[in-house]
Amino acid sequence: MTAQPSMRGDVAVLVPAAGSGVRLGPGAPKALRLLDGEPLLDHAVRRLVAAPSVHRVVVAAPPDSVDSVRSMLRGYGPAVMVVAGGATRQRSVALALADSPADLDIVLVHDAARALAPVELIERVAAAVRGGHDAVVPVLPVVDTIKEVDGRGVVTGTVDRAALRAVQTPQGFRRAVLEAAHAAAVDDLTDDAGLAEKIGAEVFTVEGDERALKITRPLDLEIAELLLRRG
Ligand code: CTP
Ligand code: MG
Repeated sequence: MTAQPSMRGDVAVLVPAAGSGVRLGPGAPKALRLLDGEPLLDHAVRRLVAAPSVHRVVVAAPPDSVDSVRSMLRGYGPAVMVVAGGATRQRSVALALADSPADLDIVLVHDAARALAPVELIERVAAAVRGGHDAVVPVLPVVDTIKEVDGRGVVTGTVDRAALRAVQTPQGFRRAVLEAAHAAAVDDLTDDAGLAEKIGAEVFTVEGDERALKITRPLDLEIAELLLRRG
């Protein structure tokens, strides 16, 4: 943890961090697992508050760990708030959104699991929303060939890879768009841009960053450790 930043920006960031991390294996909730001796959430929040655009961070913590997450993040000062998350990622985002300051018109949503997303990426997404886009996602080209498979494990088709992108966070939104998207949500989706698409919003893409990998399985933690060591 570092000293309190000045927090002069115009952006609120919602950080869903309430997942348990089943795919990482047994242990503490994923956001509290250690990477180089520090919780993943601490890595993520430190990068967010270092971004000049960011004014406020609202973390959705595992409901059983709200107090410990609050004391863990106390050093960042009042710019970082902690609320109890929900049973799904989408619900956690909705809860953080409801408690975020309404006067901040640009809202980013960033997974605690993408703990090493660099400041440049956070700024790139914020700048695209500030520049007039209603919804913005960082993307990377897909390197694997993707196939559709039926219930018996037989390939039924090959998707044209050139048209595909892998989507990361932070995703950025005009506040009214994100609020409308969540208000209209019926299905449980894995990202917020998907909800925005369903209400007809145009979702713009910017270049992603490999350092913003989602720490999902044990090997991802080892990759993140290597990235940190490389500096
Ligand atoms: N998340 C959340 N609330 C939930 C579930 C997930 O805030 N009820 C958050 C996670 O903490 C994570 C992000 O959403 O930062 C992306 O989810 P994922 O990578 O799937 O994390 P987990 O759900 O914790 O992992 P798993 O699916 O392996 O259990
Ligand atoms: Mg999950």
